[in-house]
Amino acid sequence: MHPDRPRYDLVVVGDANPDLILRGDVVPRFGQSEQLLSSADLVLGASAAITAHAAARLGLRTALVSVVGADEFGDFVIQQLERAQVDVSYVARTANPTGISVVLSTPETRTTLTYLGAIPMLGGADLDVSVIGHTRHVHASSFFLQPELAAALPELFARAHQAGATTSLDTNADPAGLWSGVAEVLPYVDVLLPNHAEAIALAAQVTSATPANLEAAARALASYGPIVVVKDGADGALGVRAGECVRVPAPTVEVVDTTGAGDTFNAAFIQAWISQLPLEECLRIAAAAGAQSTTWAGGPGPLGDDRS
Ligand SMILES: Nc1ncnc2c1ncn2[C@@H]1O[C@H](COP(=O)(O)OP(=O)(O)OP(=O)(O)O)[C@@H](O)[C@H]1O
Ligand SMILES: [Mg+2]
Repeated sequence: MHPDRPRYDLVVVGDANPDLILRGDVVPRFGQSEQLLSSADLVLGASAAITAHAAARLGLRTALVSVVGADEFGDFVIQQLERAQVDVSYVARTANPTGISVVLSTPETRTTLTYLGAIPMLGGADLDVSVIGHTRHVHASSFFLQPELAAALPELFARAHQAGATTSLDTNADPAGLWSGVAEVLPYVDVLLPNHAEAIALAAQVTSATPANLEAAARALASYGPIVVVKDGADGALGVRAGECVRVPAPTVEVVDTTGAGDTFNAAFIQAWISQLPLEECLRIAAAAGAQSTTWAGGPGPLGDDRS
């Protein structure tokens, strides 16, 4: 290896758990009824883990910094990541159980029932950040599910910059609806990757005003420093950088399940962006990857003739 070449292209920091994707008659009718489903897929879930998995599948040398329980769900998560060649040396095991998300999914919409388990344990004193000095890019996911990581993120990203790496953040949603703490980290973020609803909520929080529309929200967030890339479902994506706003459509696809589309988008965007492609091309490549991932159940796609 060249002495100056970092060991990894990408280090992803954040959540990891299995997803159980249920499709069919998924709208619950409580009252001791039994509803029959058309499919149930147990797959790798959580934004950081799916992003790391997708990046490794795209050929990036990828490590995941995360924490799972010392249990079967934790074993499953690690196996799935290893099969995609993600370096799991920095995935810690704790006494807390691994989290799980049950996704009630239709092609049009979905709801996710999450037991967080070990997810909020990531961060604080036990966070092994030594790997941050050995990568071209650091991506963090699920800001609001991991308060200790969120508090450590400005320093972690500052360290990444000192070591010559670039940074990105996908906050994902705040289930508590507070959306706080992001203004502190934005100056350290090179690329912010929210979806439509998240961009609006984050902009409202940091500016204390409701943005007029999506572009205004993206511009408001970009004024804190980062390039803002908004994932907009079937409407594609929008990028704002230094006052310039670029929109790309999503390819038309037959949607099976949208879980993880945004995380797959993240991986493809990061790969294109660290290859220094123009913003519009990065958006197109990422939108295509996100759209493709809606054509199967769960985030990670088929691995050869197998499930990954
Ligand atoms: N219905 C769809 N048709 C075509 N492309 C889609 C569709 N839904 C998502 N995509 C593609 O995937 C990208 C990411 O999707 P989305 O906007 O749902 O992100 P997200 O909400 O962050 O997803 P998640 O957090 O569940 O991974 C979109 O920018 C688009 O390119
Ligand atoms: Mg998302």
